[in-house]
Amino acid sequence: CHPQSTKNWFCWGDSAVGKSSLVLRFVKDQFDDFRESTIGAAFLTQTLPINDELAVKYEIWDTAGQERYKSLAPMYYRNANCAIVVYDITQAASLEKAKSWIKELQRQAPEGIVIALAGNKLDLAQERRAVEKSDAESYANEMGLLFFETSAKTAENVTELFTAIANKLPLQ
Ligand code: GTP
Ligand code: MG
Repeated sequence: CHPQSTKNWFCWGDSAVGKSSLVLRFVKDQFDDFRESTIGAAFLTQTLPINDELAVKYEIWDTAGQERYKSLAPMYYRNANCAIVVYDITQAASLEKAKSWIKELQRQAPEGIVIALAGNKLDLAQERRAVEKSDAESYANEMGLLFFETSAKTAENVTELFTAIANKLPLQ
């Protein structure tokens, strides 16, 4: 039984990009093809060892992407240690929205917050990709963000995304 470091996570992005699906994949290793849009926000937790000595308890706020909930976001990122901003690689507009929300986080969120950009629905890349990986990745590098393309459906890069962020957080 490891000592625990508790970290507060904030998940943000346009509606239907797959935020809830990513969190559910990470926490319960499940996926649904038909998932209802989140109302307000959902709170989930997961505890995983990150090395021989320490476990990280992830306390995750999975927020609603619909525009009418936008004003609630500061309530959740105010205490966040890290944020995952998600877009859908098949919807270019969702990356534009992610960029504006990243700007807001960099202005308003607590100092030292670790921000990751995740391009989700990677399983649809071959047929429906609308955002080039290199474009999103160079934007992320410029802004100093971690970057992953993920699939909540196949689980590709999901654990990698969460553990890469955890590894960038100061442990205490
Ligand atoms: P809001 O709660 O409205 O903000 O949406 P959300 O970002 O939480 O999206 P949600 O997880 O509800 O997923 C929306 C739809 O996309 C659902 O039908 C999911 O099954 C589907 N979906 C999510 N992730 C993936 C993925 O990686 N691949 C594919 N093919 N579909 C996905
Ligand atoms: Mg949701």
